[in-house]
Amino acid sequence: MNIVLLGAPGAGKGTQAQELVAEYGVAHISTGDLLRSAVKAGTKLGVEAQKYMSAGQLVPDQLVIDLVKERMAQPDAQKGFILDGFPRNTAQAETLDAELDAMGVKLDAALLVDVPFDVIVKRLSSRRTCRNCGYTAPAGVDVCPNCGGEMYQRDDDKPETIQHRLDTYQQQTEPLISYYKDHGILVTVDGNRPVADVYADVKKGLGL
Ligand code: AP5
Repeated sequence: MNIVLLGAPGAGKGTQAQELVAEYGVAHISTGDLLRSAVKAGTKLGVEAQKYMSAGQLVPDQLVIDLVKERMAQPDAQKGFILDGFPRNTAQAETLDAELDAMGVKLDAALLVDVPFDVIVKRLSSRRTCRNCGYTAPAGVDVCPNCGGEMYQRDDDKPETIQHRLDTYQQQTEPLISYYKDHGILVTVDGNRPVADVYADVKKGLGL
């Protein structure tokens, strides 16, 4: 299984990826998680990335592309991967196509989790994320059910930054829906339903 997850911030990409990883054991490659780890570790890349992330803007392509290439070269990604949050614009999608071609790997699907923006704003405002493993859950969950870590509110889940992220998504990421439709691999699921129902549609859409 080699798939790309598409959808607005807060659509539930990470949530559905968690389900697929638990059931199929594929590698979950989330550029948001990779970048947040770099920020937490205080690396040069992390310091640079934080300026963009806290403003709700995209981190420059080359920084993200290098991170993804390094992650995809790791052994667990050889048996399948879910790319979550990458690609985020047409330049990243074209780079990904070229890299996968060079590796002799084919994308099976681009899975769009479709959710109206008004629902997204509510979800993100009440989202809590595990500081340790990146697991996400609604507010009220104080201890991570996955690893026991502390749950916190991401800086970019504050209302003013959420709007910037949605604007960035509309301008830069939404065109990828047509990009993958033209490639004949777009699968769309209605993400505005309970997690288990969305997951059932995800599996059906992916032919699992
Ligand atoms: P990133 O971490 O990728 O954030 P995002 O795309 O904005 O997506 P989220 O993680 O916020 O949402 P999600 O769709 O995974 O939703 P979730 O499952 O958590 O990126 C952060 C930043 O990093 C970017 O702004 C950018 O600066 C930078 N970046 C990352 N990738 C980049 C790239 N390729 N290029 C350049 N810059 C990049 O769910 C949200 C909430 O809803 C949770 O609380 C969850 O419990 C709940 N929920 C999920 N599903 C449901 C459901 N069906 N019903 C009810 N609640 C649900």
